[in-house]
Amino acid sequence: TSDTRCDLMLFGAVGDLAQRKLFPALYQLECGGLLARESRVLALARRDMGTDEFRDQLFENLKRYVKPAEFDAGVARSFLERVEYRLLDFTDPAGYDVLQTWRDRPDNELIVYMATPPAMYGVIARNLKAASCCNENTRVVVEKPIGHDLESSKVINDELGEVYSENQLFRIDHYLGKETVQNLIALRFANNLFASQWDQNHISHVEITVAESVGIEGRWGYFDKAGQIRDMVQNHLLQLLCLIAMDPPADLSADSLRDEKVKVLKALKTIRPDMMDSYVVRGQYTAGTSDGKPVPGYLEEEGANKGSETETFVALKAEIENWRWSGVPFYIRTGKRLPEKLSQIIIHFKPAPHYIFDPDQKHLANNKLIIRLQPDEGMSLRILTKDHGLDKGMRLRQGPLELTFSETFETDRIPDAYERLLWEVMKGNQYLFVRRDEVEYAWRWVDQVIRNWRDSGEPPKRYAAGTWGPVASIAMITRDGRSWYEDV
Ligand code: BG6
Repeated sequence: TSDTRCDLMLFGAVGDLAQRKLFPALYQLECGGLLARESRVLALARRDMGTDEFRDQLFENLKRYVKPAEFDAGVARSFLERVEYRLLDFTDPAGYDVLQTWRDRPDNELIVYMATPPAMYGVIARNLKAASCCNENTRVVVEKPIGHDLESSKVINDELGEVYSENQLFRIDHYLGKETVQNLIALRFANNLFASQWDQNHISHVEITVAESVGIEGRWGYFDKAGQIRDMVQNHLLQLLCLIAMDPPADLSADSLRDEKVKVLKALKTIRPDMMDSYVVRGQYTAGTSDGKPVPGYLEEEGANKGSETETFVALKAEIENWRWSGVPFYIRTGKRLPEKLSQIIIHFKPAPHYIFDPDQKHLANNKLIIRLQPDEGMSLRILTKDHGLDKGMRLRQGPLELTFSETFETDRIPDAYERLLWEVMKGNQYLFVRRDEVEYAWRWVDQVIRNWRDSGEPPKRYAAGTWGPVASIAMITRDGRSWYEDV
């Protein structure tokens, strides 16, 4: 681990992301012996307190957010030894001098993590530079959302770009840190069985579902301005689509991978206003149930703007206009307050060219690859076999070839996305981070849909909490003679 020794400056250290995700991830790296002995963390926020008080609060939060079976008070305390706290008004250049005095180990690489609203990124970058607190080796980690549209993302990226070059910037899309999402790369490019079938000759369509059962969870202020398309589709869903659709990269280097993803984003077919009815469904949940308990609708949540037309559900048909994917729709859907937390991708293969079995069973006769990203991580290949029994003749039956990671590989725990991402930042590896042009092409495509919504003035369609979104989402896929996959 000596090559990962770092000084991590964490801006926004008392915020939700830092306390719920980043510190628990660092704690897990400590447990795994992955933090170099010399590595340290400087926690920065505007709250007036000392290091001791910060450590006490952090200890309690680690206890709360790390799974009880994985929490070890001794490890937590030795981790806390690395952490110091400083009060800092991020907008006040004078305050940054205090950071210099902390930087007394020149061999430690400096990592700046901006767990703050994006409007702060440029301010922090400029102030760090003015106080000579960073150089060309500094690595800078920023969170989504990078802006709320293409133009605003350019402003933020320009501000960061004035101080840092692209190879210093680590833009997080935490889905890329999920083990199962990285596994898409292994699945596709280590198994020639799939690699040779991965195109419009063999695949009829692809489904990507990222469903959540939670609602807005006290994030109204942020979410209502964003909506599901900016919060989930522009980043996580399009990243999944890219990993499924991209051409094989020449190697696993950051730029080889990102070059291929960008080509997919560039090839996304623009959704014009006249296509909206058949390509896009926008929904907002009303009162219903979650885990069997009654829950309020979006407009009745605490702090709600009663007239809000923000969407909490989106279903889309994406088409990729290139040689590999011409004519293969990617149906994607994501929403809050759906019946369960479930992220999965389904690859529907085309049926055999000539069918010789019972005509009544023809609808069964296509292979499906179900990739479960979360929970119950694994994959299942649905194949056709003969139903056994003398009375069955040549009746077909579909059954799974099943790979459940926890069983097959006896993995006791799958690392959280932030553990992986922080570890890659420490190693200086950018392959799981998003490049500027990816962000921009993703916005360009999503902006068009948002513009169409705005111009049409149509409100989102309602769906009851605890259901799979507006019926229009079912109609969208049914019109193409297909249906959302249901595991029965
Ligand atoms: C975040 C979104 O990026 O991803 C949230 O802002 C969403 O709205 C979350 O709930 C989902 O992440 P995960 O890892 O729980 O699937």
